[in-house]
Amino acid sequence: MTRFYLFLCFCTIIIVFYLNKVFIHDRVHYGRTVLWNTYGGGEIRTIYQDPDIYLRQNVRTHVGDISFLELREEVRHIKNCCQSAMLNFQLYKKYGYILTIPTYPFVTTKSKYDMNCSWEFTDWLAQQEKRTNRRPRAYFPDGYQRDFLTNKYSGVSYKYSDDREKLNVTYKSWENIADIVTWHSRDVLRLVDDMSGISMHYAMKNYYLADKRGLVLASDHPIVEIQAIQNGASRILSIGQVARETNDISSMSLTDFAKNHQRYTQSFDFVATFGTIETVGLGRYGDVLDAFGDLQMMAMLGCALKKGGLFFLGIPIGRDAIIFNQNRIYGHARLPMLIAGFEWIATFSEDSEKSTEITGPEIDRLHKFDNLKRTLVLRKL
Ligand SMILES: *[C@@H]1O[C@H](CO)[C@@H](O)[C@H](O)[C@H]1NC(C)=O
Ligand SMILES: *[C@@H]1O[C@H](CO)[C@@H](O)[C@H](O)[C@H]1NC(C)=O
Repeated sequence: MTRFYLFLCFCTIIIVFYLNKVFIHDRVHYGRTVLWNTYGGGEIRTIYQDPDIYLRQNVRTHVGDISFLELREEVRHIKNCCQSAMLNFQLYKKYGYILTIPTYPFVTTKSKYDMNCSWEFTDWLAQQEKRTNRRPRAYFPDGYQRDFLTNKYSGVSYKYSDDREKLNVTYKSWENIADIVTWHSRDVLRLVDDMSGISMHYAMKNYYLADKRGLVLASDHPIVEIQAIQNGASRILSIGQVARETNDISSMSLTDFAKNHQRYTQSFDFVATFGTIETVGLGRYGDVLDAFGDLQMMAMLGCALKKGGLFFLGIPIGRDAIIFNQNRIYGHARLPMLIAGFEWIATFSEDSEKSTEITGPEIDRLHKFDNLKRTLVLRKL
């Protein structure tokens, strides 16, 4: 009988010890907070962030809900059962990025490699030799699907258009820029019948562009160019369009820009683009198919930006996806790669002149392929 009590006693001690350990572990664990200073619309905010939040947090991707742990690719240390399955889920390491801060809802990453601007432009120019006059493709080329779909983290749906001609059309808006800059900011957006672009105007208004020189990656109509001028920018170079010259805006083709890239290295105070980055590399405008076209274009634009300069980036945000050959949607997987090398300082929507935040639940509630059009303000590190 005493033996039984001794055994019971022993068990109790073990259980108490174990519980205590978990408790203390938890306390140490969650009690530790660090300070991140973030800059949002003119004031420095300090947020207390639990450095281990990723341990508990799930984010939604095309392959289902995954934990931050998986994004950090540390799962294999825990479940070492499934080496081969894990290889399918590599993300940042596979594409040459390192996860630096487990920020939520989008982790912060940086590139493993030092930026070599001259390589980016030389490589891009070499790729252009593959350019043909063929109709844009309606499906991914064989063998490239995995990279286009960010190693399967992106969903895919199909919507086709052949927009090659749009590059050659000279929209009246380009000829009437001098008139359009006098319009009200909302009327300017009537040119494209899509109010979401007003977020770019709000972003530029909050970060004074007075007397600054800017680079714009063009879309069909010169909306972003006009918004920049309206917000005080002194001179704009617009790339991706037929060469032309007005008082404040000059434009040139991407090829000429790439060929003369040395002239433009770190020479602009700001860069802006709305609704274009997400189409690069999908072939819709007759561009060369490239799974990483958007990342490379981002790098090229970044090379022309001064250190500390601002990058106004208008993109659709949601669950990672490609709507081939229309555009990408940036989510938990690809957005951190797109903005690696920049500090994300503010976000603007069409609903408010003040900066807003994108919350995790807001993103994860969206249906597949639904998205929020936002203008992010990034600072080049
Ligand atoms: C950058 O790339 C070019 C080739 O485009 C190469 O010649 C040069 O050595 C590279 N520079 C560095 C620092 O790696
Ligand atoms: C656009 O213009 C360029 C040069 O003017 C020409 O080579 C090209 O074929 C044109 N593209 C289309 C789709 O018309």
